[in-house]
Amino acid sequence: MFVYYDHRNTFTSVHKQEHSTQKKLVADRYTKSYVTKPIVADMIQQHAGVLMKKFQQQPNIDVYKWLHYYAIDTITNHVYGAYGTRTLEDEAQRDLVYDLSGVKHRSRLYFTFYFKDLVLLAENIKHFYRWIRNQPTGFHVRGSRLNKYGLESVKGVCKDPDIHADSTAGKLYSVIPGNPNRIAAECMDHLVAGVDTTGDAMCILMWRISTPEYRHVQEKLFLELLSVDGEFDPRSGTAPITALDKLPYLEAVIMEGLRWRAPVPMSLFRMCPPGGRIVEGHHIPGGTTVSCQAYSLHRIPQVFPDPDKYDPERWLTQDKDQLSEMKAHFWPFSSGARTCLGHK
Ligand code: HEM
Repeated sequence: MFVYYDHRNTFTSVHKQEHSTQKKLVADRYTKSYVTKPIVADMIQQHAGVLMKKFQQQPNIDVYKWLHYYAIDTITNHVYGAYGTRTLEDEAQRDLVYDLSGVKHRSRLYFTFYFKDLVLLAENIKHFYRWIRNQPTGFHVRGSRLNKYGLESVKGVCKDPDIHADSTAGKLYSVIPGNPNRIAAECMDHLVAGVDTTGDAMCILMWRISTPEYRHVQEKLFLELLSVDGEFDPRSGTAPITALDKLPYLEAVIMEGLRWRAPVPMSLFRMCPPGGRIVEGHHIPGGTTVSCQAYSLHRIPQVFPDPDKYDPERWLTQDKDQLSEMKAHFWPFSSGARTCLGHK
């Protein structure tokens, strides 16, 4: 799973050294100072402007889909430069979002994760049957559209590296020039890692604060946004990231969304190093697979009282000890060496 073009990427590197070498190649493209540079921040704001326009033009809209179009456009423009998608504007490109975020693909990922052997068996039978009848499988067709897009975009970047120097693919070209497949493998992982997580996080948060019992959150947020009124671009209805970044209530609303419904809530696995380790007094033998999950950490009532309640106010507490406990248990992006590359 998550190995593309026959190359391992940062996420799928197993060994510590291999992982850290791979991650260092791209880490600078995801620091806060980099993503708030005009070349990135303006691009994000521009896509947000297109999304806002759609929302204004069409009062009844499938928010899930449109937020995922926004996510794929911003991420692929960062990763592949001018080869980034324009799904918000170009209907023909939206198949890529279906490939990635459509319900069939997502169910398949879920089953592959939890019932790998069963899924492989079923798929081999299906492939065999289709092979005899000379038909490609549905999944193969969907998967290959994304694969094709990723590889062709990287090849385009490699032909004109100077123009795309700011993108992730451009950066990778400057350090590992003769290997488009390896560059494409890393970039595809950023696309896959970034789109559903970002789209889902925005979608569930929008739904939550749109329900009548959370009207007060919207009102408070609106008042806070008025404090940067002068920074809003009246044509697009958007403000620069640097202005929005200073708003504490907005930050609390987002953090609470990520806590309450973490986009990656499930167990994240690690292998215990040779020799084993002592964890909380228990000896874990080397080679043991261990895991931790945001879902449980975010529901410890001593840290997050009434944990199932969406309550942005909890992040505004004046109790410094409580706040630092909450921050220590806030795990939507995991932590340590394997922490999310895109979390800034
Ligand atoms: C709300 C949005 C996001 C959430 C909740 C999220 C969550 C996570 C989590 C939990 C992990 C750790 C997996 C593990 O420890 O095994 C991770 C890793 C990763 N994420 Fe994200 N992510 C988000 C957005 C993004 C974006 C926008 C990108 C890049 C474009 C990205 C790229 C990555 C990469 C490359 C890794 C692998 C890092 C490594 O293995 O060292 N993520 N993400």
